[in-house]
Amino acid sequence: MADLFDKFEGLTNLRNTLVFEKTDPYKIVMEDVISPTEAIIDGKHTILAGTNNYMGLTFDQRCIDAAQNALTMSGTGTTGSRVLNGTYAAHRELEAAIADLYCMEHAMVFSTGFLANLGMISALAGKNDIIMIDADSHASIYDGCGLSDATITRFRHNDAADLDKRLGRLNAGRRVLVIVEGLYSMLGDKAPLADIVAACKKHDAYLMVDEAHSLGPYGANGQGVAAADGVLDQVDFIVGTFSKSVGTVGGFCASNHPDFEILRLASRPYMFSASLPPSVVASATAAIKIIKEDRTPQQNLWRNAKQLHAGLTEMGFQLGADCSPVIAVLIDDRDVAVRSWEQLLDEGIYVNLALPPATPQNTNLLRCSLSAAHTPDQIDQILAAFDKVKNSNSVNQS
Ligand SMILES: Cc1ncc(COP(=O)(O)O)c(C=O)c1O
Repeated sequence: MADLFDKFEGLTNLRNTLVFEKTDPYKIVMEDVISPTEAIIDGKHTILAGTNNYMGLTFDQRCIDAAQNALTMSGTGTTGSRVLNGTYAAHRELEAAIADLYCMEHAMVFSTGFLANLGMISALAGKNDIIMIDADSHASIYDGCGLSDATITRFRHNDAADLDKRLGRLNAGRRVLVIVEGLYSMLGDKAPLADIVAACKKHDAYLMVDEAHSLGPYGANGQGVAAADGVLDQVDFIVGTFSKSVGTVGGFCASNHPDFEILRLASRPYMFSASLPPSVVASATAAIKIIKEDRTPQQNLWRNAKQLHAGLTEMGFQLGADCSPVIAVLIDDRDVAVRSWEQLLDEGIYVNLALPPATPQNTNLLRCSLSAAHTPDQIDQILAAFDKVKNSNSVNQS
């Protein structure tokens, strides 16, 4: 009998070429999570420098209190879809908080950011429509496109001129949805949103911006790159997640489109999946309020990002982009990257090892994502570990 798993042979072979001495990078277990920046891994105290916990809110007492209270008052789960028994007053309050954050009329909450992209893209773009996405888009954007019946085109990463050219080639009257991210998660590079907005306006295309990694770090109220670049009011759909700066799980889309509410009955991932549990909704609402009103976490995050970016630059590492809360060290040789990752872990530093095909331009990355909760001393420890790794490997330097 033919084996359904035959198709994974290539992946299995690729996996088997990954040579590591002690710790399998893709089988890491957080044995005990102590704080937003520390855990026990392999029995050892480790500084977490790759968790996307940008605002450091996972242990924030205000979020924990809100979650515990909701758990006691409303139970462990909703056991239902948003369109049946799964909409509580708290889900509506969370949506109002998101709409308010983005100064938009509407917001819809999904059970993850992945589902927000699947649900929005597949509902918005139909058979005769065109979706244009940045070539380096997240898997959930690609899969949302796959679930839609639209024609999909990619434009060169962060290249507004290429987008403009491709939009210009389309016949007049086609409905087009352009999708980009505010901050790209692998290299930490920002989208040129003002130019992308200009191209969309010129060609009458709708624009969706996924602010998964930029909600929190960017914008005067932490809304993301569109707000920071002064074009928020020209974006048609903002998508985001609660799994990074918001410190829990869930996703959302905000928009001013007058017919937005109909999507609650048209988006299958919204309709046919259970809604978020009350505790998650409560901590997300508390976190959104903190992100909007409290500038301290954002300031601390940028202080940390600047310290790490400057230190790694000084050591001569090749970095993925200008300073941002995502700082990726590029390593030419894959085996050196894996060895360096293991050495960092030995030194008590956890970063993400990102390898092709999951990376842009087939790069090998030691990806750091920083937190407002890191102390300057912890950043120094991360830098000291990178320095050791650099000295014991022939890590390529710029
Ligand atoms: C750009 C982008 N969009 C969406 C998601 C999905 O978010 P979630 O973890 O909430 O499913 C991610 C997660 O990594 C992401 O990076």
